[in-house]
Amino acid sequence: MRVGILGAGQLGQMLALAGYPLGQRFVFLDTTGNPSADIGQTLIDKDNTCLAEFLSQVDVVSYEFEHLPVALVREIEQHKPVYPSSRALQVCQNRGLEKALFTQLAIPTPEYHLVDSLETLQQAVTDLINKHNKPVVIKTVTEGYDGKGQAVLKTASSEGVTAVWQRIGGRELIVEAFIDFVREVSIIAVRGQVGEVRFYPIAENHHVDGILRYSFAPLPNLNTDLQAQAEGYINALLNELDYVGVLTLELFQQANGQLMANEMAPRVHNSGHWTQNGAATSQFENHLRAVTGLPLGATTALSPTCMVNIIAKNGDAQQLLQEEGLHLHLYGKEERASRKLGHVNLVAASSEALLAKINKVAKLLPDSPAPCFSFAPESQL
Ligand SMILES: Nc1ncnc2c1ncn2[C@@H]1O[C@H](COP(=O)(O)OP(=O)(O)O)[C@@H](O)[C@H]1O
Ligand SMILES: [Mg+2]
Repeated sequence: MRVGILGAGQLGQMLALAGYPLGQRFVFLDTTGNPSADIGQTLIDKDNTCLAEFLSQVDVVSYEFEHLPVALVREIEQHKPVYPSSRALQVCQNRGLEKALFTQLAIPTPEYHLVDSLETLQQAVTDLINKHNKPVVIKTVTEGYDGKGQAVLKTASSEGVTAVWQRIGGRELIVEAFIDFVREVSIIAVRGQVGEVRFYPIAENHHVDGILRYSFAPLPNLNTDLQAQAEGYINALLNELDYVGVLTLELFQQANGQLMANEMAPRVHNSGHWTQNGAATSQFENHLRAVTGLPLGATTALSPTCMVNIIAKNGDAQQLLQEEGLHLHLYGKEERASRKLGHVNLVAASSEALLAKINKVAKLLPDSPAPCFSFAPESQL
C-alpha cells in the first residue's frame, strides 16, 4: 500500500516510521519548501505543479497538518480516497466551524463571538468581560498553532483592543471567554472505514506560552466518568463527520469536573506521542490502519507514560539515554527558538516513579519548564 501524505514534517515522518513494518510506503507532498521528514519520497511542490505526479504514486491520501487549502483536498478526492475527508478538514481548520459543530452536538465550549472588524472586536470583548468578569482569549479563526495568532485581554480598554486588532486582526477573529481550568486534557480516538471506534485514555497536557511541554497518560486515579464524558464528546464528532483516522479533541477540565471542548485536530497529535512507547498500538499505527482499511489495534495503556517535548535546544543524548525507560524521538531539525526538535517518552512502573523520572529529565533538557501536573503540583516534585 502506497500512502500519500500532505505535509512533510515530524508527524509525517512518525507516520512513515509506524507504517513501514505494515509494508506501507510513503510519498510526501510538501508545499513549504522546508520538508523535515527524511524517510520515503518527498515531492517539493511550491508552485503546485506536482499533484498529478504525487497522485500517480499513491493508493490513499492523508495529511499531517490541517492548514491546507480545502479545495486541494476536494480535488484529490476526485482521484484517490482521502482520509479524513475534506469536510473534516474544513471544520477542523476553522475555529468558527469547529465551535458551531461543538454547539450543534451539545458539547460544551467557552462562550464566544466571531468578529471581523475593530468595532465588532471591541463589542465582543466588552460583552464577554462584563458578562463573565474574566479575561478573554482572542484567536485568529484560521491558521493558528502552538499559541500563535492569539492574545489575552484582561480589560476592554480601547487601547488594548486596538493593539490586538493591529497585531493579529485585519481578518476574522474569535473572542472566547477565559476558562479557569483545573487542567487541560485531550482525548485521541481512531475510527475505521466501517465505523469501528477505539479511544485512548485521556492525557493531561501542560502548556507553557501556548506550546505543549508535557503529556501524561494514563492519569493516576482517573475518574471513569471523566473518560466516559470525553469519549462521548469525541464519539459524537467522529460519527457526525463520518470520520476515518485519528481525531484529537483538546479539553479544559473545570473545578466541577465538567469538560469543555477547546479545539480539535484532524490528525495524529503531539499529546498522543506517548502512545509510541506507552500504548498497545501507537496513534500513528492506528491512523494508518484506519486510512488503509486494516483492523484497528488496541488502545490500552501499557504503563504510566509521559511525553516531554524538546523545544529550541537539544539535550545531550548520551546523558538522556542513561535514564532507564527513556525513549528519544528526534526529528532531524536545526535548533531554533520555540521549535519542536523532538520529544522523549518516559515510561515507568508507577506514576510516582514516573514523576521522579520526569523531574530528572526536565533538568537535562535546556530551558525546560518545571514539570507540573494537577495531581502533582510543582512543589511536590
Ligand atoms: N478560552 C480559553 N481559556 C483559557 N485558556 C485558553 C483558552 N483558549 C486557549 N487557551 C490556552 O491557550 C492554549 C492554546 O490555545 P489553542 O486554542 O489550543 O490554540 P493552538 O491551536 O495554538 O493550540 C490552550 O492549550 C490553553 O492553554
Ligand atoms: Mg491547542
